[in-house]
Amino acid sequence: MRVAADEAARILRAGGIVAVPTETVYGLAAVASDPVAVRRVFATKGRPVDHPLIVHLADAGELPRWAAAVPPAAAALAAAFWPGPLTLVLPRRAGVPDEVTGGLDTVGLRVPSHPLTRALIAETGGGLAAPSANRFGRVSPTTAAHVEAELGAAVPVLDGGACAVGVESTIVDLAGDAPALLRPGGVPVEAIEAVLGRALVAGERRAPGVLPAHYAPRTALLLSEAPEADAAAARARGLRVAVLPAAPDAAAHARGLYAALRALDAEGVDLLVAGVAVEAGLGRAVNDRLRRAARGAGSAS
Ligand code: TXA
Ligand code: MG
Repeated sequence: MRVAADEAARILRAGGIVAVPTETVYGLAAVASDPVAVRRVFATKGRPVDHPLIVHLADAGELPRWAAAVPPAAAALAAAFWPGPLTLVLPRRAGVPDEVTGGLDTVGLRVPSHPLTRALIAETGGGLAAPSANRFGRVSPTTAAHVEAELGAAVPVLDGGACAVGVESTIVDLAGDAPALLRPGGVPVEAIEAVLGRALVAGERRAPGVLPAHYAPRTALLLSEAPEADAAAARARGLRVAVLPAAPDAAAHARGLYAALRALDAEGVDLLVAGVAVEAGLGRAVNDRLRRAARGAGSAS
């Protein structure tokens, strides 16, 4: 159900949930300081409750309300990339609900750049908790119609058009000894390392929701260095095959990735073969999502 911005604000203030546009993917939002509303998000997504949610802020000035400490690295990254597709994991302030943090002593924070959602955050108290607005484990939505296909027509959606980045935010953990990359995403790792003046360490274990099988189409998916040749071989064995080639422009590839996976999934073929992107810039996020999609693909849920 599409709702206008004022109706979205009213629903959120009343403890409801609304799917909202961001520059990365659509999020399923609730007021972050309202634990009952946040629980509705988990129930609607079918997501395990120990997976923390990102709190979306209207601007970086709101950081001290949620984070117990804002180290210089956080201030530098916020100044460089917010509003934008970067999430910072910081020690949480007491009072941030356990429902949001999954019981962790840290909180994930970002300032998204979509103007409709930034305005909505400001109007609803300054913090919206939102995971991607897909069913747990499935392909993230990058249009309002995708949200409706995932969650059904009953969920209110604020339509902000197609997402400009198309893959989720980069997540950097600044709560440990060294800055750690928890998930590659819309801000290239190279750009973050340039601001920090050091390399990010790998930190996969500390993001409970970053699962090996995720972003999955229903059709089986093969990630390939030679997609046309692998597709031809599969066709020779009698399979119906669709190919998602790697594009030379990684940003354009990322922008269209989830819509392409959805469209190919709907074709009802036996196998999707996706080309591996160059492992740099947004290509890292594309490859990360395709690897997880390949692991989760083909399951019926
Ligand atoms: O671009 C995005 O990040 C989108 C839009 C809606 O903002 N959101 C998104 O949320 O991708 P979600 O819930 O699908 O993925 C958030 C990831 C999860 O894997 C979660 O574990 C991790 O962020 N995360 C959140 N808070 C965390 C924390 N305190 N410590 C470690 N990981 C955290
Ligand atoms: Mg997600």
